[in-house]
Amino acid sequence: MPRPFLTRSEEKVSVGAIKNARHPFYDHCHQALDQIKHQGRYRTFTPLARQAERFPLYEEAVRDLPQGREVIVWSTNDYLGMGVVPEVQDAAIAAIREHGAGAGGTRNIAGTSPLHTQLEAELASLHGKEAGLLFISGYVSNQASLQTILTSMPGWICFSDRLNHASMIAGIKGARGSQTVIYEHNDLKDLEEKLAAAPKDAPKLIAFESVYSMDGDISDIAGTCALARKYNALTYLDEVHAVGLYGQEGGGVSQRDGVADQVDIIEGTLAKGFGVHGGYITASAEIVDFLRSTASGFIFTTALPPPVVAGALASVRKVRAENWRRESIFERVNTFRHRLRAAGVPFTMTPSHIVPIPIGDAERCKRICRRLLTEYGHYATPINYPTVPQGTERLRLTPGPFHTDEMMDDLINALGVLLREEGVMPARQAACSAA
Ligand SMILES: Cc1ncc(COP(=O)(O)O)c(C=O)c1O
Repeated sequence: MPRPFLTRSEEKVSVGAIKNARHPFYDHCHQALDQIKHQGRYRTFTPLARQAERFPLYEEAVRDLPQGREVIVWSTNDYLGMGVVPEVQDAAIAAIREHGAGAGGTRNIAGTSPLHTQLEAELASLHGKEAGLLFISGYVSNQASLQTILTSMPGWICFSDRLNHASMIAGIKGARGSQTVIYEHNDLKDLEEKLAAAPKDAPKLIAFESVYSMDGDISDIAGTCALARKYNALTYLDEVHAVGLYGQEGGGVSQRDGVADQVDIIEGTLAKGFGVHGGYITASAEIVDFLRSTASGFIFTTALPPPVVAGALASVRKVRAENWRRESIFERVNTFRHRLRAAGVPFTMTPSHIVPIPIGDAERCKRICRRLLTEYGHYATPINYPTVPQGTERLRLTPGPFHTDEMMDDLINALGVLLREEGVMPARQAACSAA
């Protein structure tokens, strides 16, 4: 007959055994990390503290040096420098004094302030939609919205661009019971063939982005919406890398192209062109109300903190009202490209504000980045697999309104030396190889 309790000595033995037993997950971590290192995919972070008053200068913590070293950063996603604008900072500071540091609960419990509703109304108006809904990040807005929509009715088919962001893929993959059809990147012919082959009555959704941030190309929103109308599909557009920068008020490429009203759901972030933090969707009143009432990633998490919401609100209002940063970023990007071309430094020509420098090898890419920082005081993120396919590793540069001509020349000189030494550029090259 089994005994209900262990004797004291049996207890000691079993506790000791548990203490000594090593869960297999620990070994798994070691093995996986060894493999990641072996493949050159191990991620090391560079500690860089932004200098709000000297942006785009950052302070790098250097071992053995009492004070940090100033470096010029070329890869921030705060494209317009809105995070360091005094009115944005002041709004955040005032909100923290008035309302405290955190929201104190989910939107349902205690996390809905007038600031939250004002920001949602501002974003809805920016995109010409009936309503908006805030999420704790752009990632969560994509993941939660897509997963919730695609599990709402039986039989959903999601047509997803091959290069969609990980957050959209997470939402689409998490929608159990729905079907996913991946179409070739920005290829409307392929999309149409796939839409035409799908059952006519199945509920369909097309998920795509406007600016694809790693390649810097831009999708045909009008063409995609025309196909959506023809095959009765809902459209879900990620404007994360476009809001603030494109359109007469920074409403994104859909605003620039005059097609925002053709898109059912426009998703964006407050963390890039608006320089603060948070994600959102804008859409018709019933879609927003549905997601507000059913999306787990919206309902069961603490709301964005008041200083973040106040800062974002000030930023969106400023970005809508003032055009000079938008004009300036494209002037700066064009100047940068001209200077790269004149110096014979290879870059990929894109229709957006993103300037990729192709390197083509993970180790070399990381080495160039490290040398650029340690020897020349410039920082540009190395983009490696799995963010981009192997063999297409690159540096991704995003010059902004505050990068001066002198900063550009200094960087381009450094790139010229390093790319030659690392065999990316021939020893002497005069012509531009932009493609
Ligand atoms: C296309 C795209 N969508 C969504 C996100 C997530 O946005 P957030 O950084 O606000 O979470 C990113 C982040 O880089 C992105 O590149």
